[in-house]
Amino acid sequence: MSEAIKGVILAGGLGSRLAPLTNITNKHLLPIYNKPMIYYPLTTLINAGIKDIMIVTGGNNAGDFLRLLGNGAEFGLEDLNYTYQKGEGGIADALKLVKHFVGSSKFCVILGDNIIEKSIKKYVEKFKNQKDGAKILLKKVEDPERFGVATIKDGKVIKIVEKPKKPESNYAVTGIYFYHPDVFEIIKGLKPSQRNELEITDVNNHYIRKKTMSYDILDGWWTDAGTFESLYRATYLVAKKCGVTPAKLKKIKE
Ligand code: DAU
Repeated sequence: MSEAIKGVILAGGLGSRLAPLTNITNKHLLPIYNKPMIYYPLTTLINAGIKDIMIVTGGNNAGDFLRLLGNGAEFGLEDLNYTYQKGEGGIADALKLVKHFVGSSKFCVILGDNIIEKSIKKYVEKFKNQKDGAKILLKKVEDPERFGVATIKDGKVIKIVEKPKKPESNYAVTGIYFYHPDVFEIIKGLKPSQRNELEITDVNNHYIRKKTMSYDILDGWWTDAGTFESLYRATYLVAKKCGVTPAKLKKIKE
């Protein structure tokens, strides 16, 4: 029997791109249609069978996560773990805080502003059988310059460039990653990028160089929600999934 894998939600950072919405609350508590943003990555993990979960949060409103989610009982969890990231040192900086929680387990990381249509269960099952390294999920997008962009050659990812001015492909690296615990050694060796963050793309390129990075193309729609446009798009996509049809919307008079 394969061992259970753990889950991590990264909901730190200051969400400054969404100011003034984020001046008095955390970005991941903002509404996406009828639920707070954090509900979506949390249910993505739970629906994939991941029950041992840690949330990394930050900023001035971290206590509100506890008030909202408590011990996770509402989601059928026995417990929910939290930790706190000071400042916004980057995704890899937030990730290093979960070392003790993860221990010797494999784990799945999802960014707190990533919202998807379908289940990731099949990728979780695949990673359980992956002996070493990491796995990323890619998605074709129309605006790759906003994301980490993967170049694929002969069925392998050969490099990822973070927010390239001239993207080599349309394959965005989604904010769903799978790692073995050796990732913490890799993070130790990282240097801050030009935007003064520890970049998850640098971590992933490390695995690519070692030839231990696998990938899949994510099923269904995917969006982040870190800009006003993508926040709006996320609400639209979730509302549609919940059955809010154009016909129903027509009833709202302008
Ligand atoms: O959404 C996918 C993209 O996410 C990837 O394609 C990029 O390669 C990756 O770098 C990231 O890009 P963004 O610039 O969109 O990341 P952002 O700074 O918006 O952070 C996304 C989430 O990560 C945020 O909602 C919470 C978490 N985070 C971020 C930072 C900077 C933290 O927990 N701590 C942080 O310090």
